[in-house]
Amino acid sequence: MAIDVVLGLQWGDEGKGKIVDFLAPNYDIVARFQGGPNAGHTLIFDNKKFVLHTVPSGIFRAHQLNLIGNGVVLDPITLSKELDKLKTANVDFLDRLFVSKKTHLILPTHRYLDAASENAKKKKKIGSTLKGIGPTYMDKTGRNGIRVGDLDTPDFKERYTFLKEKHLQLLKSYPEIDFDLETEERAWFESLEELKKLTFVDGAYFINEALRNGKKILAEGAQGSMLDIDFGTYPYVTSSNTTAAGVCIGLGVAPSQIGEVIGITKAYCTRVGSGPFPSELFDDTGEFLRKEGAEFGATTGRPRRCGWLDLPQLNYSIMLSGVTQLVITKLDVLNKLDTIEVVDSYEIKGEKTKQFPFSLDATEVKVNTISFPGWRSDIAGISDEKDLPENAVRFISEIEQATGVRVSIVSTGPDRKELISRTPAVSRTP
Ligand code: GDP
Ligand code: IMO
Ligand code: MG
Repeated sequence: MAIDVVLGLQWGDEGKGKIVDFLAPNYDIVARFQGGPNAGHTLIFDNKKFVLHTVPSGIFRAHQLNLIGNGVVLDPITLSKELDKLKTANVDFLDRLFVSKKTHLILPTHRYLDAASENAKKKKKIGSTLKGIGPTYMDKTGRNGIRVGDLDTPDFKERYTFLKEKHLQLLKSYPEIDFDLETEERAWFESLEELKKLTFVDGAYFINEALRNGKKILAEGAQGSMLDIDFGTYPYVTSSNTTAAGVCIGLGVAPSQIGEVIGITKAYCTRVGSGPFPSELFDDTGEFLRKEGAEFGATTGRPRRCGWLDLPQLNYSIMLSGVTQLVITKLDVLNKLDTIEVVDSYEIKGEKTKQFPFSLDATEVKVNTISFPGWRSDIAGISDEKDLPENAVRFISEIEQATGVRVSIVSTGPDRKELISRTPAVSRTP
C-alpha cells in the first residue's frame, strides 16, 4: 500500500486541515511529518470548529489512528491544551493518538530564544509565530535536542537542565526580553504528564509495518511549499522541509512508498509574516480578499496578506513535490468579483520568465497577469459540479491546463461537506 500526501503549495493556510479531515475516512492512519505548533489547521463540521496545532487532522474520525511523526517538533503545553479541547468534545483519543519517540521537544526556553532572535532582527523580522520552531530544529541539527523517547530515561531532568542553562546563556547575548521561566517551567512539566499518557512508538516501524499489512496512510503537511527551509523564500521560511521529500525524513518511509501527492492551493494566494510575495495586492481587491476569505491567522490571529493566484509559484511547488492531484480551496471567496486575475509570468530586469527566481528579496519583480471573467453568483457550499457556473468551471480547467495536473477537489466553503469531489482522491500504487 502507498502512503498518500496532503500538502500546501503556497505559504500555508491553504485549507490542509479541512481536506485531511475530509479524506481521513479513506485511510487507516493520518500522520503529521513536520512542523509544530506554528501550524493552525481549521476543521469545521456539525456546526463545530476546531483548530489543531499538533494533533493530526484525522482525530475526529472514529476509526483512524493518528501519528505525530519524528519530523514534528512538539510543545507539550500546546499539545495538552489541544487534548483538553478534545476531551471536552468527547473525542476518544487515548488509543488512537501515537507519538514517535524520535519527535523533538520544544522547551519554554526555545520559545524565548525565538522571541529574542526575532527582536534582534529589527526590520528584517521573519514574522515567526514565536512558538520556538527555529531554535528547536537548530538544537535537533546541532545534536543538542531532547526527544519524546528521552522522557523515560533516568537522567531526563539533568538533560533538560543542561539544555535550559545553555539557552539562558545564549539569551544573554540578545537584547533583554521578558519571561517568567518558573511559571512556564511548571506548566511544561505538568503537561509532560499528559503527554506521557499517550503511546510512544518507534514511528518508522509503526508506519512501515502498517504499510506491509496493507494499511492506508495519509501524511499531513504543515505550512506550505514556499515556506520550505530549502526551497522556499529563504530566509523568510520555516525550519523544516514542507515539500513531499519531508514525508520520507519526517516519518521514516522510503520514497518508493509515496503514492498520490495531493497539493492544495487557494483560488488566490495569501501569506502571513514577512518576506517576498510577488502577486500581493495592496489595493481594495487585496482588502476584499482578506474580508471575504476571513484571512486572519488560525494560530496568531494576524491579518494575512492577500494576492492573486501565481502560476509560476504554483508550478514551482508542483515540480518540487511531484504533485499528482490538485485541490483548489476557497473558490467561493471569488464569488463577487467581475474579473479574476492570475499571475502568468514574472518580469525580472526586463526579462520575462516563468521560473521562480533564486531571490525575490533583492530583485524588483513585475508580475504579468491574465484575466478571467468572474461568475458573479453565490457558489458557497456547492457540492455538485453541475451546479457550478460556467465561468467557475472554466477557471478550474484553465488551472488544470496551466499546471498539467488534474483538480480532484474543489472546496466551496469551510465546512467538511462544502466541496466538490471530482475523482476518487485515493489511491495510486507507487
Ligand atoms: P490550513 O493551515 O492549511 O489547515 O488552513 P487554515 O485552517 O489555517 O486556514 C484556512 C481557512 O479557510 C480556515 O478558516 C478554514 O475554515 C477556511 N476554509 C477552508 N476551505 C475553505 C473554502 O473552500 N471556503 C472558505 N470560504 N473557507 C475555507
Ligand atoms: P499552517 O500549517 C502560515 C510562517 C510564519 C513566518 C514563517 C516562520 O497553518 O499552514 P515559524 O513560526 O515557523 O518560525 O514562522 O512561517 N508560518 C506559517 N504561515 N501557515 C502556517 O502553518 C505557518 N507556519 C509558519 O508566519 O512567516
Ligand atoms: Mg493554518
